[in-house]
Amino acid sequence: MDAVSVIRTKRDGGELSAAQIDWVIDAYTRGEVADYQMAALNMAILLNGMERHEIARWTAAMIASGERMDFSSLSRPTADKHSTGGVGDKITLPLAPLVAACGAAVPQLSGRGLGHTGGTLDKLESIPGWRALLSNEEMLSVLDGVGAVICAAGDGLAPADKKLYALRDVTGTVESIPLIASSIMSKKIAEGTGSLVLDVKAGSGAFMKTVEDARELARTMVGLGTDHGVKTVALLTDMSTPLGLTAGNALEVRESVEVLAGGGPADVVELTLALAREMLDAAGLTDADPAKALADGSAMDAWRRMISAQGGDPDAPLPTSREQHVVTAAASGVVARLDAYDVGVAAWRLGAGRARKEDPVQAAAGVELHAKPGDRVTEGQPLLTLHTDTPERFEYALKALENACDIAAQGAEFNRTPVVLERIA
Ligand code: URA
Repeated sequence: MDAVSVIRTKRDGGELSAAQIDWVIDAYTRGEVADYQMAALNMAILLNGMERHEIARWTAAMIASGERMDFSSLSRPTADKHSTGGVGDKITLPLAPLVAACGAAVPQLSGRGLGHTGGTLDKLESIPGWRALLSNEEMLSVLDGVGAVICAAGDGLAPADKKLYALRDVTGTVESIPLIASSIMSKKIAEGTGSLVLDVKAGSGAFMKTVEDARELARTMVGLGTDHGVKTVALLTDMSTPLGLTAGNALEVRESVEVLAGGGPADVVELTLALAREMLDAAGLTDADPAKALADGSAMDAWRRMISAQGGDPDAPLPTSREQHVVTAAASGVVARLDAYDVGVAAWRLGAGRARKEDPVQAAAGVELHAKPGDRVTEGQPLLTLHTDTPERFEYALKALENACDIAAQGAEFNRTPVVLERIA
């Protein structure tokens, strides 16, 4: 077998055989296939697509590139969720302890932000002392003791995806349904969860800009999970505007704690509860009542134990930005659009995200929203507060926000986009 013949097959619109897929993933993981060859193959896949059976084999080969975790020693059923990424998407933070408080074990292997989307680990690292890197033994011990753990995936889990994802990121080959589906599902299946709820985002702030593309991605991932014995369902959810009222690391932790304390923005609470119900159903815990666990403080208790178990101080003050800049409403009326992508780019430019994998992030940087689509505003009232420790970033961040907001005349018709658009099982 050689890389050039595999690339040619896909370049010419053919189907890759099982043997070709197994060979190319294994050889790439071992360094025998070069990055430039894999980049050419990824581009051919992005342009020509893959059949379902090719995606299934590609995913299986990525799982086989590393170790598989085993949670069979746990007394609770496992439930996991994965979001395809968005702006202000802090849902994992309240959700994992909430579902743990309802009786499931939640092994949440999470990632870091890249580009305009935030990462769960970057958010939690704004809590003084909190550690994302745990050994497999530590992870199991937190999961067993608390019921929820949020940590980085170890190097042994789907190593083919680690290399491939980094390569795709710099070769314009992220936005491919077969490649995204196999990337996400190889990690989730290797992680060993019994059930999985996918939050597939659609809209300007998501990888999938249209509901049609998001639906196809969701169907592909649900099919892959089911084929590997993982009970998988997907919710298609809106990412045309940021989730909640914050985008940025410490800002989102603060908002998540508000949700755990029984408050927080309505859309964050709604999505957290919708995903919690799906996770509990998938785990067979159909009698659990997540709304009660939020209201009676048991989800907050699980959060505090989870943060402490990973070295964090749940009572420590969160970092605040050295500089703020307020953006005001340009007119009076109703906010008709507040664009997720533009807000995500602004937060990123303020220092909440990184341009390269090794860049540091600012814990306190980000964007605070004072109004959401559908809210009335008066000319001159604060619309957004930008936070950063490095004020020279304001100008560049403001550029991203130039066309972020439309304000319609008072009385104009406004239809609020639902948070959950569709369910796919
Ligand atoms: N998240 C992943 O883990 N992989 C992708 O390809 C896209 C989003």
